[in-house]
Amino acid sequence: MGQEISGKIAYITGGSSGIGKAAAHHFAKEGVHLGLIARRKENLEETQQELETYGVNIAICRADISKPDQVKTAVQQFEQKLGKADILINNAAISDYGNFQDMDEEVWKHIFEVNVFGTYHVLKEVLPHLVSKQKGDIINVSSSNGLKATAGSTAYSASKFAIQGMSEALMQEVRKENIRVFTMNPSLVATKLAFGDKLEEKNEDKFMQPEDIAEYMVAQLKLNQRIFIKQSAQWATNPF
Ligand SMILES: NC(=O)c1ccc[n+]([C@@H]2O[C@H](COP(=O)([O-])OP(=O)(O)OC[C@H]3O[C@@H](n4cnc5c(N)ncnc54)[C@H](OP(=O)(O)O)[C@@H]3O)[C@@H](O)[C@H]2O)c1
Repeated sequence: MGQEISGKIAYITGGSSGIGKAAAHHFAKEGVHLGLIARRKENLEETQQELETYGVNIAICRADISKPDQVKTAVQQFEQKLGKADILINNAAISDYGNFQDMDEEVWKHIFEVNVFGTYHVLKEVLPHLVSKQKGDIINVSSSNGLKATAGSTAYSASKFAIQGMSEALMQEVRKENIRVFTMNPSLVATKLAFGDKLEEKNEDKFMQPEDIAEYMVAQLKLNQRIFIKQSAQWATNPF
């Protein structure tokens, strides 16, 4: 037997778009209360409205995860409104592509500040919640680019490789406290991050959809507490 997730509290970074938003919908359907972080207020508000139909508690907070003070405030607000987290989805990230020699140093560094340090800041604030409960789940969303780099993605791939290392080490540290760290590595998913303004051209028969990744997240969280999937890779069956 697995476990129920109804009544748990999940904080999701990047919960206003793509994979994070799909996760919010799937979790809310399961009765999970939600705290959502992103930078843009209008997308957060729109997501909150959509989720209200599920009857769970929803808190939203504008925060840039690369800014430790904003992360601290967001997590404090979620704790007050919802309670301490049982589940943390480290999902927010940015991407930018270009050959190493063409990419400005600021752009390269900013990808690291959001994807790596942003994840660090969120973990720093939320991990104590899980430790205090001596139980909990963390899903870190890396990428197929975090397992095998591709030309034009030195910054993004390096940031996602960093997430692998951070996740593996953290997993080994906290499993002793019944905290499960799952790392997911999707290949191309039809979201703004991957398709930009051409998202309307996504082909639902070919490309993985954010809902597919969200379904897999729910399945992982429902596993019996004695088991977790430390690494997984999600691939489209026939995107050709
Ligand atoms: N799509 C793919 O093909 C693919 C493949 C492998 C892995 N992934 C990973 O999946 C995760 C989700 O990506 P997605 O494809 O769903 O992208 P997306 O649709 O662009 O969503 C990204 C989310 O992160 C938020 N975000 C971005 N920067 C932020 C910051 N500094 N602080 C707080 N929130 C921030 C965005 O909201 P705001 O812009 O309003 O802040 C948005 O809610 C990422 O970790 C990505 O690397 C995606």
